[in-house]
Amino acid sequence: MNAPLRVRRKTVVADGVVTLELAGGGRVKDWTPGSHLDLVLPTGLTRQYSLCGDRWDSGHYRIGVLREPGGRGGSAYVHDELDVGDEVGVGGPRNNFPLVPSPEYLFVAGGIGITPLLPMVHQAELLGARWRLLYGGRHRASMAFLDDLEAHGDRVLVRPQDEHGLLDLAGFLGEPRPDVKIYACGPAPLLDAIERVCAPWPPYTLRTERFVADAGEPARSTPFEVELVRSGLRVTVPPSASVLDAVAEAGVEVLSSCRQGTCGTCETAVLAGRPEHRDAILEDHERAAADRMFVCVSRSLSDRLVLDL
Ligand code: FES
Repeated sequence: MNAPLRVRRKTVVADGVVTLELAGGGRVKDWTPGSHLDLVLPTGLTRQYSLCGDRWDSGHYRIGVLREPGGRGGSAYVHDELDVGDEVGVGGPRNNFPLVPSPEYLFVAGGIGITPLLPMVHQAELLGARWRLLYGGRHRASMAFLDDLEAHGDRVLVRPQDEHGLLDLAGFLGEPRPDVKIYACGPAPLLDAIERVCAPWPPYTLRTERFVADAGEPARSTPFEVELVRSGLRVTVPPSASVLDAVAEAGVEVLSSCRQGTCGTCETAVLAGRPEHRDAILEDHERAAADRMFVCVSRSLSDRLVLDL
């Protein structure tokens, strides 16, 4: 955990969306487009928010927070209680959604999913890459940062659902072709749809960031064993417990934050066995390598996993 920061500015930027500027006494840590920050609220809740400010301004971070009525209280606290001058704990930044070099980028944002894509747009612009952005939301007033994006003219397609209906993903992306990277962030139905549309594109073209891991039922309903090589322990993980909780019970603490398979904090090296990946972070080829897992949500396909713990 880093030194706490203070809320320097809080701004309503759209219906249900505020931005916070967080600053300490000096430089904040460097970050790259796609990074998120762990915000540790005075209530003890920890939440992850994408950085959406100017990475070259090292004096503060900026995050965007959507009020989520059905959420677990983090966004409500930020909207209703957190004020300018208040102190918050921070962890990170950490990047599970890095922008890889490409001559052309296609960005697709749904709602608050615009936040990690804003710095990517700026980076693509700086690098002189070709890029376009398709940005959807429920209605125009709920869509943050439209002013910032206006300067980019017709490279940005703003498509509120009440004016245009569902996003025309196939029309925006065009024919499958090499030398393009597609970055998408938004609600699960949008990301599921773009995964379907991108199926014929070359492997690794699409990279998505999900707000929640949605892996369905675990593959096995029976206990499995984890062998912790550095601790010299064998721990049985019952169907009712996560690997994280089972090893903690045995006295081995793994750092965690979101406990939902989205932040990356609990990443653990796998030395043998086949993990069942249930996170929202790893790409398919990273999953196939079976050399690491996020123990807050991921489980095991094999009877035994050997972990570097
Ligand atoms: S604690 Fe966030 S991915 Fe495991």
